Amino acid sequence: MYQEIDLDKIDINTEPPAEEPARQYYFMAKCREWVREFERKNGRRPSFFTQTFGCQMNARDSEKLAGILGQVGYESTEEENADFVLFNTCTVRDNANQRVYGRLGELKNYKKHNPAMKIALCGCMMQEPAVIEKLRSSYRFVDLVFGTHNIFKLAELLCRSFEEQDMVVDIWEGTDQIVEDLPVERKYPFKSGINIMFGCNNFCSYCIVPYVRGRERSREPEDILREIRQLAADGVVEVMLLGQNVNSYGKNLKKPMTFAGLLREIEKIEGVERIRFMTSHPKDLSDELIQVMKESGKICRHLHLPLQSGSTRILERMNRRYTKEQYLALAEKLRREIPDIAITTDIIVGFPGEAMEDVEETIDVIRRVKYDNAFTFIYSRRSGTPAAAMADQVPEKQVREGFDRVLRVVQDTAREQVARYQGQEAEVLVEEINDHDEALLTGRMSNNTLVHFPGSPELIGRIVRVSLDKCQGFYYMGHLV
Ligand code: SAH
Ligand code: SF4
Ligand code: F3S
Repeated sequence: MYQEIDLDKIDINTEPPAEEPARQYYFMAKCREWVREFERKNGRRPSFFTQTFGCQMNARDSEKLAGILGQVGYESTEEENADFVLFNTCTVRDNANQRVYGRLGELKNYKKHNPAMKIALCGCMMQEPAVIEKLRSSYRFVDLVFGTHNIFKLAELLCRSFEEQDMVVDIWEGTDQIVEDLPVERKYPFKSGINIMFGCNNFCSYCIVPYVRGRERSREPEDILREIRQLAADGVVEVMLLGQNVNSYGKNLKKPMTFAGLLREIEKIEGVERIRFMTSHPKDLSDELIQVMKESGKICRHLHLPLQSGSTRILERMNRRYTKEQYLALAEKLRREIPDIAITTDIIVGFPGEAMEDVEETIDVIRRVKYDNAFTFIYSRRSGTPAAAMADQVPEKQVREGFDRVLRVVQDTAREQVARYQGQEAEVLVEEINDHDEALLTGRMSNNTLVHFPGSPELIGRIVRVSLDKCQGFYYMGHLV
């Protein structure tokens, strides 16, 4: 992990080093000079604003980007009208893309009033050549564009962008490089995501992630454990291990290690009180993992287990490599071994060739598994994926109808499922002041359910006991005990 480095000791008048992370420290030192120049001229430090679209992987990347900007001397702000604006984009569904284009329109206006403003785009959407073409032709006011494989290079790219007037574009098709030891600026002091692997090799036929995030690469266990030990020393009590398919962790390491094996090691780290992970692919969920979860006092009672569809015929076309029956058997085993586990899922409605009978199969699985929550998505056609080329795309009206039916069943089963602890007490990690009512705190149970209760903000970051007075659909209202 990053140890505070004295950037002023780095000689920026020599050639930059070739090896990482030293090369990036050199460019951070160089950027800092530019920031000082800005300070002298403007009597204040330059500000930066980042916005993350997409999943927790992207959120973690944004923390790394913010870490680099912080080291260089930029000051974080909640104002979009900042000196440096960075959007970390997502392209998993088309609406994620559209939101980015919409926001770029707003930025263009700000830049008219502040021509020195720098606009940068990075993340998954930038890995698509068609997006880059569109930016080059219609969004010339963007200063810097990079992808998912080279976020560690932000300082170097920023330097280039100060030196060159034109739009700087640096997109890598793939990488096997994992650069360690760069600064990170965490959003929460008491909890943190940790990448345990990057990329995905599964190629589900609807999904663009393997194309924009590249091949699966696991981090060395020693690097992960070192990072978590330092986080624990820095006050982190909850860690969330991140990967597109954590169950296949470690397969491509020089010294292979299973995900369950990694969890056993993390469990030993003092100070870490809660361990979460996402996402688990049902096809790779091992008995060893269930056993480790069952025996653990720290691994949270929550498993996000994406179903996508309950129809074996559709699952096969999705290239998910499990059947409805295999999924149900797995859920049953989990409930038998870990009775207090909450299972959540992702569902896609409207995949090519899906008929109402298939939607009924999905509903059947929802009723039988009894999810605590299910994120339901309308299928989005992603160009370049096998599903986009399938002839039998489903008409919108039918998709809507199926989507509404699924959503209703999800809400009914979840309400019942979440409510099963009403009247009992639970340990809750206090996360923040409630968004709507300042007198309330919001905390999270081990099984991921949120609880709102009156309390003072000093409790944020602590694990407290709360009585679960009343279930309101997906969350509880409670009081401290
Ligand atoms: N790696 C994770 C998922 C990452 S994407 C996994 O395999 O579970 C998060 C969710 O987005 C997926 O689970 C899926 O439900 C949804 N998704 C992915 N591609 C999609 C598409 N083309 N249209 C609609 N939803 C999609
Ligand atoms: Fe996409 Fe499938 Fe990989 Fe998840 S496992 S990221 S859904 S290809
Ligand atoms: Fe989106 Fe990229 Fe995550 S496409 S869902 S941000 S991996």
